[in-house]
Amino acid sequence: MDYKKIIAERISKHVDMEVEELEKLIEIPPKADMGDFAFPCFQLAKSLRKAPLAIAVELKDKMEKENFERVENLGPYLNFFVEKQSFMKETLDKILKEKQSYGSSDIGKGKNVIVEYSSPNIAKPFHVGHLFTTAIGNSLYKILGSQGYNAIGINHLGDWGTQFGKLIVAYKRWVDEEALLKNPIDELLRIYVKFHEEAKIDTSLDDEARMHFKKLEDGSKEEQELWKRFRDLSLKEFEKVYDMLGVKFDSYAGESFYGDKMDSVVEELESKGLLVESNGAKVVMLDEYNMPPCMIKKADGATIYATRDLAAAMYRKKTYDFYKNIYVVGSPQKLHFKQIFTTLKLMGHEWANDCEHVGFGMVKFADKKLSTRKGDVVLLEDLLNETKKKTLEIINEKNPNLEDKKEVAKKLGIGAVIFAYLKNNREKDIVFDWNDMLSFEGETGPYVQYTYARGKSILRKAEGIRSNNVDYSKLKTKEEFELVKTLEGFNEAIILAIDKLEPSIVTRYVIEVAKSFNKFYNSNSILNIEDEDLKNARLNIVEATCIVLNSGLKLLGVETVEKM
Ligand code: ARG
Repeated sequence: MDYKKIIAERISKHVDMEVEELEKLIEIPPKADMGDFAFPCFQLAKSLRKAPLAIAVELKDKMEKENFERVENLGPYLNFFVEKQSFMKETLDKILKEKQSYGSSDIGKGKNVIVEYSSPNIAKPFHVGHLFTTAIGNSLYKILGSQGYNAIGINHLGDWGTQFGKLIVAYKRWVDEEALLKNPIDELLRIYVKFHEEAKIDTSLDDEARMHFKKLEDGSKEEQELWKRFRDLSLKEFEKVYDMLGVKFDSYAGESFYGDKMDSVVEELESKGLLVESNGAKVVMLDEYNMPPCMIKKADGATIYATRDLAAAMYRKKTYDFYKNIYVVGSPQKLHFKQIFTTLKLMGHEWANDCEHVGFGMVKFADKKLSTRKGDVVLLEDLLNETKKKTLEIINEKNPNLEDKKEVAKKLGIGAVIFAYLKNNREKDIVFDWNDMLSFEGETGPYVQYTYARGKSILRKAEGIRSNNVDYSKLKTKEEFELVKTLEGFNEAIILAIDKLEPSIVTRYVIEVAKSFNKFYNSNSILNIEDEDLKNARLNIVEATCIVLNSGLKLLGVETVEKM
């Protein structure tokens, strides 16, 4: 039953406003004593020429009561209290019928949405900061997919640019082949750092690097082969991490993919009169928009990051005719994307309005002890391995006889890390703290996972004694109703998460479900009750909760465990 729609239809009989408009105004009150749905009367004041309070009082008496226990007015709000038992029956029947597709919809059918995420740089370490874009993007990808959007996950690898010229110079002089095979990224980073040190003394190295990059751009075989080798070695390392996280992409079209697609962009900019010479470089002036110029070509003719982003956006529009093109990239690149989108608009591409930069904060560490292999960066692979280890220790302590301990530790531990990254508003920096993150109490991944496993354990115990004799009219406690009401809000949370491109809305939601379940569990017996009908009704609540927790965690990219 669509309560919002019913309410909107009933109100529409008395006011001059469309049902859809009214529906959008309906709110879910923050407290139970304010009802289950509330309608604010402010917007009606003008057309009805009455005070909102007077409108609320009047409408209250006019409302039909079917499906509602009562309708009240709290000040200028109309407050609707649903008929609890029928609400619970409706909701639980729906969840148990739809199972893992509960919460999904097809509102996005036929719409292509690009989610670009992760996008690490070749030959550079994949560090803990990269998990932010990877986790947010992966989750948005899944969240969009759940509502029928055709999500396209793109890893815009940083695999092109003048740094490859430098890497080639460094490789030719200083590479240690054995080290390269053993620890490719470490070795590539070592020689890259060495290049910069040496180039301070011998500036001819820079010229040499430019020459190699030029040859690479022109398709010279030797350079191409080396570049490919760096890329393959790095990708293999990145893929190890993606496997651990269970993250996938539909396309690895990175910066190099646009090597032959930039000329046409430069020509278009030129023909539209947007390119200006500045110290030998070619730029698009953006001072009208209070932004520094967008550099398109360097003085030596080399293209840059921004040029490739322009080409990528054009290509994506042409190839996917996207409804939205989302870039999950750290907030420090905010200006870069504003420049790109503005330049596209200056070129006359109105679809630039459908491009969106989804920024996020930084990762800091509460305890400095986290092992760092390279200077200040903590490698994500190390972090994930450490998490698995720590989680296994916790399991050994709490439940030493558990089956598949290693597998459980992996899912729980990695899930805990992802959960911690997706818990707060993405713009906020996160402070990474092992104790917080792995705790079974508080708003953590393990807490939610534990709640799920607890539910599953109840259901296992109930096997054989459960039957279809369910009587929802026997559900009378506050906790039962509050929990079912929370379960009912799943789709709404997902829709809001899409609206704000904010996975944390789903994270907060699963935390709410877990909390609500534990309140229910702590004050309502489930297995130890005589009344069959009530027992089965409560078991259905447990099952519905498990379904929602499982689906909710999946949308975050977190895998559940049946026992822990
Ligand atoms: N490789 C870049 C970096 O690590 C991120 C790429 C972001 N995506 C883009 N389309 N520019 O900073």
